[in-house]
Amino acid sequence: MAESMQGLKRTHRCAEVTQNEIGTEVTLMGWTQKRRNLGSLIFVDLRDRSGLMQIVFDENDIGKEGFEKAGTIRSEYVLAVTGRVEKRGGAVNEKLATGQIEVRALSLRILSEAQTPPFPIEEDSQTKEDLRLKYRFLDLRRPDIQRNLMVKSRVAQLSRNFMAQEGFLEIETPMLGKSTPEGARDYLVPSRVYPGSFFALPQSPQLFKQLLMVSGYDRYFQIARCFRDEDLRADRQPEFTQMDMELSFVDIDDVIDVNERLMAHLWKEVLGIDLKTPFRRMTWAEAMDRYGSDKPDLRFGMELKDVSEVVRGCGFGVFSGAIEAGGTVRGINVKGQAGMPRKKIDSLTEFVKGYGMKGLAYMAVEPDGNVKSSFAKFLTEEEIAALRAAMEAEPGDLLLFGADKLKLCRETMGALRCELARRLELIDPSRFEFLWVVEFPLLEWSEEENRFTAMHHPFTMPMEEDWQYIDTDPGRVRAKAYDIVLNGTELGGGSVRIHQNDIQEKMFECLGFTKEQAQDQFSFLLEAFKYGVPPHAGLAYGLDRVVMLMLGLDSIRDVIAFPKVKDSSDLMTQAPARVSEKQLEELGISVPAPEEEA
Ligand code: AMO
Ligand code: AMP
Repeated sequence: MAESMQGLKRTHRCAEVTQNEIGTEVTLMGWTQKRRNLGSLIFVDLRDRSGLMQIVFDENDIGKEGFEKAGTIRSEYVLAVTGRVEKRGGAVNEKLATGQIEVRALSLRILSEAQTPPFPIEEDSQTKEDLRLKYRFLDLRRPDIQRNLMVKSRVAQLSRNFMAQEGFLEIETPMLGKSTPEGARDYLVPSRVYPGSFFALPQSPQLFKQLLMVSGYDRYFQIARCFRDEDLRADRQPEFTQMDMELSFVDIDDVIDVNERLMAHLWKEVLGIDLKTPFRRMTWAEAMDRYGSDKPDLRFGMELKDVSEVVRGCGFGVFSGAIEAGGTVRGINVKGQAGMPRKKIDSLTEFVKGYGMKGLAYMAVEPDGNVKSSFAKFLTEEEIAALRAAMEAEPGDLLLFGADKLKLCRETMGALRCELARRLELIDPSRFEFLWVVEFPLLEWSEEENRFTAMHHPFTMPMEEDWQYIDTDPGRVRAKAYDIVLNGTELGGGSVRIHQNDIQEKMFECLGFTKEQAQDQFSFLLEAFKYGVPPHAGLAYGLDRVVMLMLGLDSIRDVIAFPKVKDSSDLMTQAPARVSEKQLEELGISVPAPEEEA
């Protein structure tokens, strides 16, 4: 029977009891990790969010009735135990924080019984994630995920305090807003009052935080939930949390400065690590050129080399053809891997094909200096030598080349670089390589939409020295935009904003908005800007990603209490779900009837 709390008070969490408490009485409450009967003794490992404590039930201490009750305890029963802290009688458990001590039970209440859970509640669970997510309330009892969420709470708290000290005000912005066409797909919420009209859940507080600057709040901060209806990945959820900020009367360096100090503060407080500031900065162009990525992982080398000029007009059609077609040839030098078996090279070829490149060419420089290659037979001796020199190849190295259009080739070879580092275990997981990527292009050509789209968002300020090209060569204009990158993942991004109406209007024009469309979508912002707007800039982190990287985790789901799965559904609540006819009627919405069940 479930007993009550009446007259009982918890004195400690399990792992908060230390050897200093030896000889004192404590009252602990938690879940039963494990029970073992040793005849005259019963051992229970009691678990709460702090950790485990071994409880010993001895009939001589707790009496016959209490001992019998202890005999009924099963896994996950919720217990309240009052007892005396003692040095462990049996073997000391070095792995446990409380491994030197135990609690001799003097009284026991069973606060709640429990069914056998569908999977063991344990660290490093081997249970399939789908089952764990269906029973997320049990999964969340596991120590590793509890630690993750505790760190996340800490990061949020530390950030709030830090930002408050820096003069930022925490201001909430609406969840029910207006759909805007740029960016990802919106989640829509129907209006009951205006049937056929919809709110959109915010993809970010972007417009509102800019309006707050117009209103004079000069430093804003918010831990804000954001919603984006996009395909999920390991580092992407449809709802996620941003640490969002905006500052008035600043330029790029001011934003970067406060954020480097914020990161340094978090890493110091949470991990005890001193980050070296300032972080490195790299232009987008350099990042794309050297790493084939706008979020390069700097924990390892293997940079991309442009060998187009070396192989231009050579006898290998794949190379010369790509260059003739306006493309490029990029290589990477995989140090000491000349002996890589053919099968492994084939699987790398499959990997690049996944990105749309047609193949991968290789040249192994054997220890004796001879080359073994898929294409060397089409090249002259001089061309081979020039290629080796360009790749800084030494005996024992494996050179891999891709030929294609610039964008695809860089991206593919960049991805291959990361894949190789993973396969060859070149990455030191204890390293944190922060990087600012700056000077992004303002606009990006979309083949799909046959127009320019904003690379960051339509409110991003162009670089003053490039604005002259906006009519003649829009793709050449760089933006005052910056991303903060850690170990190959984009942690956050931001920009200096346009605060001049004429530039903003021109920007909308470049993006293919008519005056009417721009007015229709952003009238409030354009209107606001007529009444005195300070120069302003900002940035937003994915809080979930910050914590994920801080803890070296591979999945964003491990830092979100109730995450969604691949198809954006929630396995536990079964959301999304159909709603009643009445609800739909009120909203003036009609939907196809659910398919007849077979
Ligand atoms: P951006 O779109 O780059 O910028 O988003 C900022 C950061 O939010 C995180 N993030 C995500 N995390 C998890 N799941 C997602 N689906 C997801 N999408 C984005 C990333 C990203 O770097 N308003 C601008 C910021 C600004 O200009 O101030 C914005 O939202 O870590
Ligand atoms: P193919 O012309 O398709 O028979 O390919 C000849 C060789 O070139 C094969 O080893 C391919 O893997 C390689 N190859 C094909 N396309 C590319 C490419 N785009 N970049 C680099 N190597 C390629």
